[in-house]
Amino acid sequence: LNITFILPDKNKITVAANEGDSLMQTAVDNDIEQISGDCGGCCSCATCHCFIDDKWKDKMLLADDMETELLEGAIDNMQENSRLACQIFLSKEHDGLVVHVPESDW
Ligand code: FES
Repeated sequence: LNITFILPDKNKITVAANEGDSLMQTAVDNDIEQISGDCGGCCSCATCHCFIDDKWKDKMLLADDMETELLEGAIDNMQENSRLACQIFLSKEHDGLVVHVPESDW
């Protein structure tokens, strides 16, 4: 399945992702440097913050309480479509997903 990352400088990178991988792992594997995934995906560092494209926001599962709490506590530029990429596990339904990558806060 293909995932497109739109970088802070508006460059687009489309990568092939594996089903079952997290969005964070996919970004790290493809050298998207603004998504560093420092905690390894255990929902404690927020260095995997990203924005889900508007066209996709209704198709995604919502963030759970733990993710929402971390987003609210750690992210200054949090928006309605903010997510932690390590909490999104990719399946066929995500083919074509577009993710906006914020400037790194770290
Ligand atoms: Fe640490 Fe997502 S990788 S919260």
